[in-house]
Amino acid sequence: MKNKDFITIRDWPADAMNELLALADAVKKNPSKYANILQRKALAMIFEKPSLRTRVSFEVGIQQLGGFSLYLTQNEIHLGRRESVGDVARNLERMVDGIMARTFSHAVVEDIARFASIPVINGLTDFCHPCQALADYMTIREAKGAAHGIKIAYIGDGNNVAHSLIYGAARFGAELHVASPAGYGPDPAVVGWAQENGGETGARIEVLTDPFRAAEDADVIYTDVWTSMGAESEAARRREAFRSFQVNDGLVSRARPDYVFMHCLPAHRGEEVTGSVIDSGRSIVFQQAENRLHVQKAVMITLMG
Ligand code: CP
Ligand code: NVA
Repeated sequence: MKNKDFITIRDWPADAMNELLALADAVKKNPSKYANILQRKALAMIFEKPSLRTRVSFEVGIQQLGGFSLYLTQNEIHLGRRESVGDVARNLERMVDGIMARTFSHAVVEDIARFASIPVINGLTDFCHPCQALADYMTIREAKGAAHGIKIAYIGDGNNVAHSLIYGAARFGAELHVASPAGYGPDPAVVGWAQENGGETGARIEVLTDPFRAAEDADVIYTDVWTSMGAESEAARRREAFRSFQVNDGLVSRARPDYVFMHCLPAHRGEEVTGSVIDSGRSIVFQQAENRLHVQKAVMITLMG
C-alpha cells in the first residue's frame, strides 16, 4: 500500500526511500520537466516553531511544481487551543491538497495525519526531522558517491535530527556513530529499531560518549545545535554538558582527509562548531540546505501527484 504521509523514515521501506532519492535527483537535474505536475494544488504549511529553510524550500518547491502554499502560524490557527487538532485537519482536507506541519509534539503531526485524508508531511517535530535526513542522504550520495557503507559521525545532541539520521542509516545502509554526552543520547527505542531493521541494508549504528572515537576515520562529520527549539531554558546547562563535543579542528583531524562537514542549520559558530570547520572547504552545509528543495519536491510529487 502506498504511504499517504511522510511522518517518519521508519514508515517508509528502503526501496521507497531509494525511489524518493532517485526522483529528487531527477527533479534537481531537470526541474522544468516537473513544472506543472502539481498544477493549482494547495499546500497548507503549519508552523508552531520558526523556520528559514523549511518554509522557503516548501514554498518555493510547491510553486516550482505549479501549485501554491499557505503559511499558517500559531498566531492564525492556535492549533489545539482555538480549535482542536482534529477539527483543523478536517477543515483543511476540504480545501487544500496537502499539509506540511512543524510542531513541538510529534503526536500532533500524527494526529493531523490521522484526522486528514490528504497527505501530511512532517516539517520537524521534537522527535524527528525526516525531510532533513532525506536531504542529508541525498547530499552524502552526491559527495561520496553512495550512502551505503559510508561512515558518518554525528557529534552532539541525540535530538530530532539525530533520530532521523539513525532511521535513514537503516534505510540506506550507512555506518552511523552517534556520540553524545551521557544523558543526551538518542532515544534507545530509535537506536534499537534501526539496529534490528538495518540488517537488510547492511547498516551499522553505534551510540557512544567519546566524540574522538566516533570521528575516527569518518567520511562525514555531522553536528547540530546543542539546544533545540523549545529547550531554550536548558541552554546554559547544555552549553556546559556539551563543551567537549564541539566540532573543531582537533576533532575533525581524526576524520579521513577527504571527510565532509554537515550541519542541518541554523548553526552557532563557537558552540557546536567552530568557524574554521563550518566555513572551510570541507563544509557542504549549503548544498545540504539546497537539497531540501529537491527532496521535498520529490516527496510532494509522490504524495500529492
Ligand atoms: N534545517 C532546518 O529545518 O532549518 P529551518 O529550521 O530554518 O527550517
Ligand atoms: N535540532 C534543531 C533542528 C533545527 C532545524 C531544532 O529542533 O531546533
